Amino acid sequence: MKMSKLAQLIDDDEQEQNQFATDVLAGLSSVEKHLSCKYFYDDTGSELFRDITQHEDYYLTRTEYAILDDASERLPGVLDEKEIDIVELGAGDGHKSQLIVDGFLRAGLAVNFYPIDISDKAMHMLGETIRDQPNLSVHGLIGDYFDGLRFVRERSARRQLVLFLGSNIGNFDRSQGQTFLRRLCSCLNTGDHVLIGFDLKKDITELIAAYTDSGNLTRDFNLNLLARINRELGGNFDLDGFQHYATYNPVLGAMESYLLATREQRVFISALQREFFFAAFEPIHTEYSFKFSPSDIEQLCDLSGFTPVENFADEKERFFSSLWRVA
Ligand code: AVJ
Repeated sequence: MKMSKLAQLIDDDEQEQNQFATDVLAGLSSVEKHLSCKYFYDDTGSELFRDITQHEDYYLTRTEYAILDDASERLPGVLDEKEIDIVELGAGDGHKSQLIVDGFLRAGLAVNFYPIDISDKAMHMLGETIRDQPNLSVHGLIGDYFDGLRFVRERSARRQLVLFLGSNIGNFDRSQGQTFLRRLCSCLNTGDHVLIGFDLKKDITELIAAYTDSGNLTRDFNLNLLARINRELGGNFDLDGFQHYATYNPVLGAMESYLLATREQRVFISALQREFFFAAFEPIHTEYSFKFSPSDIEQLCDLSGFTPVENFADEKERFFSSLWRVA
């Protein structure tokens, strides 16, 4: 696929690096240590994540893929236009995007596809996946989602379908999720649509397996956060001194991921000129992956300015792809 334009929305690497340092300092200085999951996705992390999505224990991706395979036939009918803009937030490797884009092309529509991702590695993987086709133009945007949305709107007044797949919404807590969707809604016009992937609440055994896969990919994905601090901030984390632990919090309705120090240790991070102390079995919280009930989804839709159109689901109701219209 040739991308007709590859816009780099963030050109300030230095500012990004400062933000990373600041967040690591704040997170590791807290009484309850934490690191943000948004830093998982450097080049290594993006590749590890792609491997996770292909692992049998991580049911989310294949389930959503099957749902979208069916839904892609019906989406063009719902939108009823001749040419549309498809904007994807966090496009990943592009396999799911390809399904949806193909559905519109088959229905005879012209498609302008704008994948937005913070990782240029992910954008590169997407470039390998998306096929060149007549009536399709692709504009990859590397940067912040809302900068990307603004970029698209400044250039086109066409009807938009915004994709936010993979249950990426689950990384926000309930209130952040609502704020994010409200903000998304305010960027769109009446009649625009969003298609959002929600992983549903389900048997805890299945959830735990997905975040503690037998190939240890999720472990490596989490540990890469420490490796990234070593690489980019001059840390001296000993990765063998940390253990990945994922657990379901039924009160929150969320998977929680941790890295536990398996022994007492000190870690020096040269960019911060600071040493951090870890007691034996002290946790660093790294990620929430919130899970949803159908009524959680309905409520979220309502509270963020959208009208529900349809929930596309798999037979076992593991996952919903929810189509909403701007009210
Ligand atoms: C990309 C946020 C949807 O929470 O399931 C996969 C990331 N973390 N395995 C998720 C992830 C551990 C994933 N999301």
